[in-house]
Amino acid sequence: MSVIEEVKQKTDIVEVIGQYTPLTKSGKTFRGLCPFHSEKHGSFFVYPDQQSWHCFGACGTGGDVFSFIMKKDGVGFGDALRLMAEKCGVTIPQNALAEKAREKHDRLYLANEATADYYHQLLLRSPEAQTVRDYLSKREVNAQSIEDFKLGYSPSAWDGLQKHLIERGFTNEELLEAGLISESDNNKMKHDRFRHRLMFPIDDVRGRIIGFGGRALDDNQQPKYLNSPQTPLFDKSANLYGLDLAKDAMRKEGRAVIVEGYMDVILPHQHGYKNIIASMGTAIGENHVAILKKLTKNLVLALDPDSAGEEATLRSVGLENSLGAEIRVAILPEGQDPDEIVIKDPQKWHDLINTSIPILDYSFEKASTGLDLKSSLGKTSAIEALMPIVSQIKDVVRQTYYADKLAALVGQAPRKIELLLQNNKTARFAKKSQAEIAKASVSNPLEEFCLAVILKNPGLKNQYAELLPEYFDCSENREVYNVIRSCQDTSQVKTLLDSSLLEHFERIMGKKLIENKMEAKLADAVLRLREEYLKRLAGNRADTLAIEEGKQLKELFVNKEHLGEQKRRQK
Ligand code: UTP
Ligand code: MN
Repeated sequence: MSVIEEVKQKTDIVEVIGQYTPLTKSGKTFRGLCPFHSEKHGSFFVYPDQQSWHCFGACGTGGDVFSFIMKKDGVGFGDALRLMAEKCGVTIPQNALAEKAREKHDRLYLANEATADYYHQLLLRSPEAQTVRDYLSKREVNAQSIEDFKLGYSPSAWDGLQKHLIERGFTNEELLEAGLISESDNNKMKHDRFRHRLMFPIDDVRGRIIGFGGRALDDNQQPKYLNSPQTPLFDKSANLYGLDLAKDAMRKEGRAVIVEGYMDVILPHQHGYKNIIASMGTAIGENHVAILKKLTKNLVLALDPDSAGEEATLRSVGLENSLGAEIRVAILPEGQDPDEIVIKDPQKWHDLINTSIPILDYSFEKASTGLDLKSSLGKTSAIEALMPIVSQIKDVVRQTYYADKLAALVGQAPRKIELLLQNNKTARFAKKSQAEIAKASVSNPLEEFCLAVILKNPGLKNQYAELLPEYFDCSENREVYNVIRSCQDTSQVKTLLDSSLLEHFERIMGKKLIENKMEAKLADAVLRLREEYLKRLAGNRADTLAIEEGKQLKELFVNKEHLGEQKRRQK
């Protein structure tokens, strides 16, 4: 039995979760107040038979004991496993594979470190970098900031870095893996990835260099910013620029300010505002929130005042639920990025952050601009845009406040909006599913089969677009699938997996498959996983709640009908 299975067997989910929130037995299930959001009526259920949990309230999600710990403690699968293993006295063997992966990672950190030194020295001293030094001084980045952020210059030569690192004992394979050199498609020539760019090393929270961003220096150079590719160390969706230098200030001030770009971190920092990190141009996601909330729950978004920044801000509303706190938005003057604001008037930056507004108010403002709220069309549009946002607010007092605000906005009696809100939340199901609840088991053959097919048949990449991570009931399988989805090519999965999952991964890879009709087998497995998932949800639901928060389940039933149809068509 694998360590994962052993831990699952020795753990009682009711006991574990009961330590976080009081549970009362009702029938075969246990019910309590959801530990992830505040509520008055328990919509959180634990199913001992299946060793699973589900929140039918604002979270609308569930999983096994590992996913519970991951969500509750904001840790990855490996840490959740280690924590649970320790609690139930299972020792995790230092397996050779994990050891090897760690050694390899250490080499990649060293390569990144040597690269940052090399670029940094060139920026400080090489004649070729004179234009870059001029550029930095034009943008008012001073010597201390160049030092603090270890800025650098990547030379124009095709192999400047490659030569330098090979001389120091690194291999081409290591440099490829670290994303420092790339291979041309046709003749397999290897060359430096970053050439003639201003270099920003990207740290993780422990200050280790995990990747780089490189800014173009000539007008015709594309793209404007080139970043490290996804590597065993670097994942843009799970890292924030400047975190190592910002974390103390974030803790101390109890506030984090999120900006978009590298320069927008450096200049405020230089002027004493050190609680700043950048999302590096991508949307802020659950992974970012998970990192930040360990430091502070007080987040202020200060994204660029352009349409992309606005869009990214609006999309962040949903993150309040996983953050468990209010997100605020600083409204920046049109046409000025944070770096420019700070340079012009540092005090103004301070004021802008201090006068930030709740993201819900911001959404209200954006949703109503351009609408004629006197016309019925305008009222309907405002309600359609804002009702989904209001209905997902988990805190009752806040929800009432925003429902009233919506009522005032569209000139309706608050009672009417409340009714709409109720309708939005209440489900009525004609059918009561008698679906059998999937038997609890420590491993799940169907899930593992599906993963084995995907991993062993890279050609089937487009065949599982509809397979969602939550269809996997076991966290370990869900985790493997998340990694599969995050990388270009399934051969990278093993290097990207947390070391605690390597044994499980090998077991999946060790499955013997009869290699015929793989495409059809995969399609069938995907459908079955989806069906199992819907059954589990519907079954749990029927067992417990009659009504409440119906929208989601209503959709599920629609999906289920759609699924039946799809199955018939496949036959
Ligand atoms: P911007 O294009 O707004 O750049 O992208 P910026 O920070 O204002 O750059 P400066 O001030 O002109 O030097 C914001 C961030 O988005 C990411 C980078 O992290 C950048 O800092 N980005 C942007 C990319 O990753 N790739 C791109 O091609 C552009
Ligand atoms: Mn800028």
